Amino acid sequence: MENRIFDITRFPDRRHTNSVKWDTLAGKYGRDDLIPLWVADMDFPSPPCIREALEKAVDLGVFGYFSPPRSYQDAFLRWEQGHHHVSVDREWLRFTPGVVTGIYWSISSLTMPGDAVAILTPCYYPFMDAVKDTGRRLVCSDLIHTEAGYTVDLVDLEEKVRLEHVKMFLLCSPHNPVGHVWKEAELYGILSICEKYDVLVVSDEIHQDLVFPNNTHLSCLGQEQHPNRLIVLTSASKTFNIAGLQNSFAIIPDSDLRRRFDAYVKTLRIKKGVSLGYIAAEAGYTGGAVWLEEVLEYLQGNYDLLRDLLTEALPNIHIDPLEGTYMVWVDLSAYVAQEALEELVRDEAKLAVDFGFWFWPEELVPKHEAHIRINIATPRDNVCKAAGSLIAAIQKRQQK
Ligand SMILES: Cc1ncc(COP(=O)(O)O)c(C=O)c1O
Repeated sequence: MENRIFDITRFPDRRHTNSVKWDTLAGKYGRDDLIPLWVADMDFPSPPCIREALEKAVDLGVFGYFSPPRSYQDAFLRWEQGHHHVSVDREWLRFTPGVVTGIYWSISSLTMPGDAVAILTPCYYPFMDAVKDTGRRLVCSDLIHTEAGYTVDLVDLEEKVRLEHVKMFLLCSPHNPVGHVWKEAELYGILSICEKYDVLVVSDEIHQDLVFPNNTHLSCLGQEQHPNRLIVLTSASKTFNIAGLQNSFAIIPDSDLRRRFDAYVKTLRIKKGVSLGYIAAEAGYTGGAVWLEEVLEYLQGNYDLLRDLLTEALPNIHIDPLEGTYMVWVDLSAYVAQEALEELVRDEAKLAVDFGFWFWPEELVPKHEAHIRINIATPRDNVCKAAGSLIAAIQKRQQK
């Protein structure tokens, strides 16, 4: 216990800190008496190595213009090699103030208005916003659920890519919201379709480090098929809980794609990140690995607890094994219809979660969809309380 780096006895009170997750509940859900389990950040302090590096920078007290340090790039390149077994060339790196920004920039620079861009639904909703906001055409292929969990429907995907003349495919790897970590055969199938139809691939790998035992994140950078058709987006933001510091990577192996991406970004005249973000990410990549292992262990404990409590009290609930991300995709369709889901979870159980139907375009939400996405990167007490409230709310409905 004394040797732990991740201190499971110290969880700061995030209320009144301008936290989106804790302080914008009334605006988002119409009430603020909810347990916040939505936005994908952690209620845990970042590792001490990051806090110490930031303290040193703050002590210096000067926050003038800066350039992204080479040591930051080195730390990232080492991390990619050491943790994901991929060799990234320094030349391929571009800096973005967020992964979602990187998605918008990739779409804007490499496709034309009206072009079709494909995603796998249910899908992290900013992917859909990015396609629509940039005036591109959204094409959705639904994941399928099997005994083994979620997977891609390659037949459906290929048909849509072909019929809709898709120009770009946005992959979420691991996949938010279902938490699936893509296997080699799945990636091979997806990337082969993209190769066959000359589709650019943007792979959002922001959750690459949040992967649980028996699963391995396979970066698209490590797949052989088509490095000249690929952009990988990632960041230390989920790994070390530094999303507020706005600092991410676009990795673009192909020089022509880099040239087009750069030409577009130049017109935006945007600064490439935040000085404290570079300092934090470098410190995390350099000294945060053990902290991360401990956090993953704690998250696994939270998942086990949540699953055990829910499935014991509500045997018809469905929860897949935890593969990646710290979001748990819980199927409540045996207990509640889609139309009553918000009332049950928000108003009766008092939980602020992401509702399953947020992850499709409105017109494509499946009829019986009644999932919720629970963020378990929160103190264990909170998980326990949330499970208890959900169980009580459902049982109360059953007694009526
Ligand atoms: C798949 C995915 N991509 C991107 C983001 C957000 O990234 P950023 O804050 O760097 O834009 C999230 C946050 O939840 C996410 O889940």
